Amino acid sequence: MPRRVKTGIPGMDEILHGGIPERNVVLLSGGPGTGKTIFSQQFLWNGLQMDEPGIYVALEEHPVQVRQNMAQFGWDVKKYEEEGLFAMIDAFTAGIGKSKEYEKYIVHDLTDLREFIDVLRQAIKDIKAKRVVIDSVTTLYINKPAMARSIILQLKRVLAGTGCTSIFVSQISVGERGFGGPGVEHGVDGIIRLDLDEIDGELKRSLIVWKMRGTSHSLRRHPFDITDKGIIVYPNKVLKRGKVLELGGEGNGY
Ligand SMILES: Nc1ncnc2c1ncn2[C@@H]1O[C@H](COP(=O)(O)OP(=O)(O)O)[C@@H](O)[C@H]1O
Ligand SMILES: [Mg+2]
Repeated sequence: MPRRVKTGIPGMDEILHGGIPERNVVLLSGGPGTGKTIFSQQFLWNGLQMDEPGIYVALEEHPVQVRQNMAQFGWDVKKYEEEGLFAMIDAFTAGIGKSKEYEKYIVHDLTDLREFIDVLRQAIKDIKAKRVVIDSVTTLYINKPAMARSIILQLKRVLAGTGCTSIFVSQISVGERGFGGPGVEHGVDGIIRLDLDEIDGELKRSLIVWKMRGTSHSLRRHPFDITDKGIIVYPNKVLKRGKVLELGGEGNGY
């Protein structure tokens, strides 16, 4: 049995029957506003509380904005960055502007996967990372969908060698089925899908673990909330035809 990496997200490790198997690359897929970024940041923050150094690769938002957003949930990573336990990789600004004065890790050219991988490798080595988040991988192949599979496999190869457990954020459109395309979906070890559905004039959040190599897991769609302390998942509840149902019996959620 592989060792488990605890997400530390309330309810989530129950759904995963203990956590994410170590070294897995997990695709975290969902439409806009479904909670992908918050989920992945919470995963990294909880890792820091368990002495597991982590890396956040920012492709969607300015690193300064990322740190600010995290601090709003009480996840202030600055201290950990100074101690060499957390690293932010700036793959957003391309080193243009002030960021080159204070960001330690910058990817200048996103069309050059080699540079991206070199910077990632260096950061993993420097802080002895155990957790890696790439938010989002979609950005890496948005203009060259035919390259998606190859890019995912190259990244996976690099990460597999380091012993890190990783979350690849995958952006899909509102109402889109699947998780981000066949090349991506088949390349990863796990898939978690976050959803936001309008039901009777109200948006409801839910998630489902579609695949997770190395473990059994709940096959149900579980509701979750986003609060000012982050995500809370309800392993004892299931979303069925738009209704939240309480699970009876032992109430263990799986
Ligand atoms: N403090 C908060 N309390 C409740 N919900 C929040 C809070 N902060 C953000 N959210 C919700 O989280 C959403 C953004 O989540 P995010 O992880 O950035 O989505 P994604 O990365 O999937 O686009 C917002 O649209 C909002 O609905
Ligand atoms: Mg996001």
